[in-house]
Amino acid sequence: MTVTAAYATRAQEYAELLGTLEATTPADRRRIETWADGADGPLLDLGCGPGHWTAHLASLGHDVHGVDPVEEFVAIARRRYPEVRYHLGALEGLRRRRDSYGGILAWYSLIHLPPAEVPGALAVLHGALRPTGTLLLGFFDGPRHEEFDHAVAPARFWPSGEMVTLLEQAGFERLEVEHRQDPGARPHAAIAARRC
Ligand SMILES: C[S@@+](CC[C@H](N)C(=O)[O-])C[C@H]1O[C@@H](n2cnc3c(N)ncnc32)[C@H](O)[C@@H]1O
Repeated sequence: MTVTAAYATRAQEYAELLGTLEATTPADRRRIETWADGADGPLLDLGCGPGHWTAHLASLGHDVHGVDPVEEFVAIARRRYPEVRYHLGALEGLRRRRDSYGGILAWYSLIHLPPAEVPGALAVLHGALRPTGTLLLGFFDGPRHEEFDHAVAPARFWPSGEMVTLLEQAGFERLEVEHRQDPGARPHAAIAARRC
């Protein structure tokens, strides 16, 4: 089953368990809010799932829209937050959106990509950002890019140092790297980077 098909079958369950602001941590909220405040230009929540981060950023006054390849997620997001813009789409479609965004949030939306596809994905994100636009990545932190059975579809841990190197090779400048280990959760990393 493809990643999008796997999410389609569990979209409602995901939305109920993880797709609310209350299910997120205060540390993630602060990080995403601070990143968004520092961005200049429209924001994209790529792989927005049930749309809670997009709606949160919109509620704070940001010009933001959410994109996800899973129709069920887009439908849930539109139903929950009718005032917010959501579109069906994927990373791959950003090839046609050059120099468009002041910021792209890819919060756990690249975690299912095979490692060989990550450099290409970062190049697409770089091209879709405006010059000096910023990217905020959230992902599972680990010593190797090792696959594990995520609840919905196989995902991978990524070493943050290696992700920084790939970002730099794609034309980004590293701004900030966070590592966190919350009780009962997998290790988390976030990287903010600027297109240069
Ligand atoms: C772990 S969920 C994260 C959802 C949301 N960002 C959050 O923080 O709850 C991964 C998301 O990535 C999306 N996704 C999978 N493949 C994608 C692709 N090629 N382009 C954009 N999003 C994708 C999935 O549909 C899903 O919504």
